[in-house]
Amino acid sequence: MYDNNLTIEGVKTIDEALQGSVFFKESPTPGLRHFYIESYGCQMNFSDSEIVASILGEAGFTPSRNPEESDLILINTCSIREKAEETVRKRLRVFEAIKRQRPGAIVGVLGCMAERLKKKWLEEEKLVDLVVGPDAYRDLPKLIGAAEDGQRLVNVLLSREETYADISPVRLESNGITAFISIMRGCDNMCSFCVVPFTRGRERSRNPFSIVSEACGLFERGYREVTLLGQNVDSYNWEHPETGERVDFAGLLEMVAAIHPALRVRFSTSHPKDMTDKVLHTMARHANICKYIHLPVQSGNSNVLERMNRTYDRDWYKQRIEAIRRILPGAAVSSDIITGFCAETEEEHQDTLSMVEWANFSMSYMFFYSERPGTLAARKYPDDVPESVKKRRLNEVIRLQTAVSLQHNQADIGKTFEVLIEGNSRKSDQDFCGRNTQNKMVVFPKKDGLKPGDYVQVQVCAATSATLLGEIL
Ligand code: 5AD
Ligand code: SF4
Repeated sequence: MYDNNLTIEGVKTIDEALQGSVFFKESPTPGLRHFYIESYGCQMNFSDSEIVASILGEAGFTPSRNPEESDLILINTCSIREKAEETVRKRLRVFEAIKRQRPGAIVGVLGCMAERLKKKWLEEEKLVDLVVGPDAYRDLPKLIGAAEDGQRLVNVLLSREETYADISPVRLESNGITAFISIMRGCDNMCSFCVVPFTRGRERSRNPFSIVSEACGLFERGYREVTLLGQNVDSYNWEHPETGERVDFAGLLEMVAAIHPALRVRFSTSHPKDMTDKVLHTMARHANICKYIHLPVQSGNSNVLERMNRTYDRDWYKQRIEAIRRILPGAAVSSDIITGFCAETEEEHQDTLSMVEWANFSMSYMFFYSERPGTLAARKYPDDVPESVKKRRLNEVIRLQTAVSLQHNQADIGKTFEVLIEGNSRKSDQDFCGRNTQNKMVVFPKKDGLKPGDYVQVQVCAATSATLLGEIL
């Protein structure tokens, strides 16, 4: 059950995620230099791997599915929970063995684990040749050149400016229909459990015109949905360096929604303290902005939220949900939840359960608390809830959320939704799958003449806790 930490977060290799991609080559082409990249953690990390792939492409590297035959093996790491770090360690041992067979190959660590483990892996264990933090990817070609000359190098400097605005990502994980666009980097929030502000640095917003241009390019290539990514999209705030003109998140949403009515716009992640009614009204005005908000509550108890330094309480969160219900009736809301945070009592845990029910989340990503070195919580509060209790509480939340999701989905039986076809369903090539505006996956039998990228009206006839089943009208 606890592997929900794993399956829900989607710790998967790019290789797994790439089924169906035409971009990767199964066997390397002789004479070309190849790189292999494996990504862990959040969508932002997968998006970063696409920026890295673009930088490496410019430097003459071609992507490969096969680490054994690659000249450069990269692992884009995540630090958010201990489990993600353990997985990366195991993979590095595998790459070490490959390197012994292929002495010229270079192994590099990218991303969130770079800063904390650079010394250990690079100098003490000599496990890797390169360590590159999330703001230093432009330096990769230079660092690779030096590594080829036998040096072990590191660049983990965090930047206040880098947004990779001018880099056109190479779509590694693509179904050709939906894509992620990074709109900002870093986080200034300092939730006490979270390592992200330390690994990804200060928050900065990307030039909105470069975002619109990337989205237009995707639309022209046949993509029909973009998800705007940031740790806290509601605090997006770009200022023109000369005129001082400002664009906030609602303004950015307007700009992207205006590209074309057939281009759907999604975003993630929203923060309850910053999500404004202005954004909700913008969503209401545009049919192509999907009516779905990922609004992590983390805990349903105000004392726990205070220890988490989330800067809102239970009532504030409930008011935000009420605003969504008022301004966007029918919108779906999903959440992230942590069980067993420092000093969490049984009563406080019960408040999380009651919040799952009250908020009627369509789904949640659920985790038990994992102390991260250097965070506010690690310095301030003992990690004193026994692991067995954290896991039992996690199980209770998962069980309740699964029931709530089932009810949420069953309430859709008989309704008709517009669905964007993404491709074949995972179980059958006789069926298509795609999402409705509420981000629910809908599976339905194919009909002649329809293809991925088309919009269809689907009537729901059955539901599980994860999927709606329907028929094209
Ligand atoms: N332990 C458990 N879960 C965590 N998250 C972030 N840090 C931790 C941690 N130390 C969860 C939060 C966040 C999601 C991306 O990961 O719920 O919203
Ligand atoms: Fe971490 Fe909080 Fe920032 Fe999210 S908003 S990345 S949980 S510090």
